[in-house]
This record gives sequence, C-alpha cells and structure tokens, in this order.
Amino acid sequence: MRRPRNIVILTGAGISAESGIDTFRGAGGLWENHRVEDVATPDAFARDPELVLRFYDMRREAIQTREPNAAHIALARLDREWAARSGGGEVLIVTQNVDDLHERGGALNVLHMHGEHLSVWCGACDERHRWVGALLHRPPCPACGEAALRPDIVWFGEVPYRMDDIYQALAAADLFVSIGTSGAVYPAAGFVRTARELGLQTLELNLERSQGSAWFEETRLGPATQIVPEWVEELLR
Ligand code: OAD
Repeated sequence: MRRPRNIVILTGAGISAESGIDTFRGAGGLWENHRVEDVATPDAFARDPELVLRFYDMRREAIQTREPNAAHIALARLDREWAARSGGGEVLIVTQNVDDLHERGGALNVLHMHGEHLSVWCGACDERHRWVGALLHRPPCPACGEAALRPDIVWFGEVPYRMDDIYQALAAADLFVSIGTSGAVYPAAGFVRTARELGLQTLELNLERSQGSAWFEETRLGPATQIVPEWVEELLR
C-alpha cells in the first residue's frame, strides 16, 4: 500500500467483542435474544417504552463493567501518534458502536454515528446529557425537568449522526479502514463504495469475510486484538 496521510477508520461491534460485548449478528448476538423491531425503533419505544428502556438500561450498565482491549488501545495510539509520524496527517475513528471503549482506550478523535449508551436525549427540550444510571424509572431531564428522556441511540428508521462530517473526512482521506463490522447496515456499509469512488485505498480487518469484503482492495482476517495492533505497528514503523 502507498503511504497514506489522512485515515478514516470505521469500527463495528467486532472490535469490542473481545472486551465481552456481544456483536449483533453472530451466534449469541444481540438480535437473537431481542427482535430488533421490539427494542431499536421509535415505534417500539412508543409502543412499549418499559421494554426498550429496560433493554438499554441493561446494556448501559454492562458496558461500564467492560474494559478496552488491545485493538482499542492500538487505534488510540495511532490517533495520538499519527500526526507527528506522518507530518500532519489526521486520523478519524468513525464508530457504529455505542460503547465508550475507544475513548477509555485513549482515542481522541471519535465520532459516534449511532449514538452513545452513556448519553440521553430529552424529547421535550432536545438537550443531550451524559448519563450513567437507569432510565426505567423515568427520571426528569436535568435541563427542563420533564420525564421525557430516551437513550441517545440512533434507532432503525432514524438518520445517523454527523453524516456530513463523515463524508467530508472521506473526501479528504487517502485510506479507509473498516474493522469488525458485518457491512449489513447502511449508510455505514456504503462508506467503502464512496471511498473507492473517491480513489482512497481500502482495507478491511475482520474475523471473517463480511458482506462488504468484495469492495475492499485488501482484507486481513483474524481477531481484532491481534490484527489491529499488527496493522498499527506496521503503519507507525
Ligand atoms: P455485526 O454484529 O453485524 O458484525 C460484527 C462483525 O464483527 C462480524 O463481521 C464479525 O465477523 C466480526 N467480529 C466478531 N468478532 C470479532 C473479533 N474478535 N475481531 C474482529 N472481528 C470480529 O455488528 P456491526 O457491523 O457493528 O446499529 O453492526 C452494525 C449496526 O447494526 C450496529 O451499529 C447496530 C446494529 O443494528 C444500531 O444500533 C443503530
């Protein structure tokens, strides 16, 4: 591969799998225990808020007991060292994950396109707040006092966050890397095609071949905790 300058990295559930957070579509994956339309849509929340809030309360509590793994830590190192190593190049980590393991691993430039477990959004005043506790008991919004808080998660049928920023970053990048994502959910699954059209180099790091593999110039297979640190080491060498 040619030496890149600006790098956009897309991560998915596979990067957090070895930290003990279930992926969505693998064996034992989340949607097997809960039908997606029962928990991850605005309709589901309107129909049965208690089920949805209980599900997300459980997830919010669980992620706080998990730790970043070697893959999160390697990406954070790349994020911190790349500018000096590349003469001013930039790294943007675009994650579909709603956990905070990239940040706890030390990464600075992280964009959560599908929202965050540790954030809530008030349906009454539109404010967002950092939140580590439960929502099931319908606590008041710290800003307006209304009991209208919902998980700050992008549900099916809603538009992911900061799409303009992501496409701008892709337009300015030389390399697009996808890590631990099945390529099943759009618009993230389409980033590789945009990257190809824009002339970026493309690399996939995943446990197994994914639905999007054919679009990548190179795919490396293996557990993220092994292949991500190896790739970062190669780049920083
Ligand atoms: P998926 O569960 O669809 O895919 C996880 C991918 O990670 C699969 O391709 C696995 O092979 C791979 N994988 C599993 N363990 C791995 C490991 N140890 N190392 C490397 N790769 C591994 O998860 P996503 O693609 O992230 O959206 O799912 C995308 C979106 O679907 C999620 O963000 C979520 C869901 O609906 C929302 O919540 C809005």
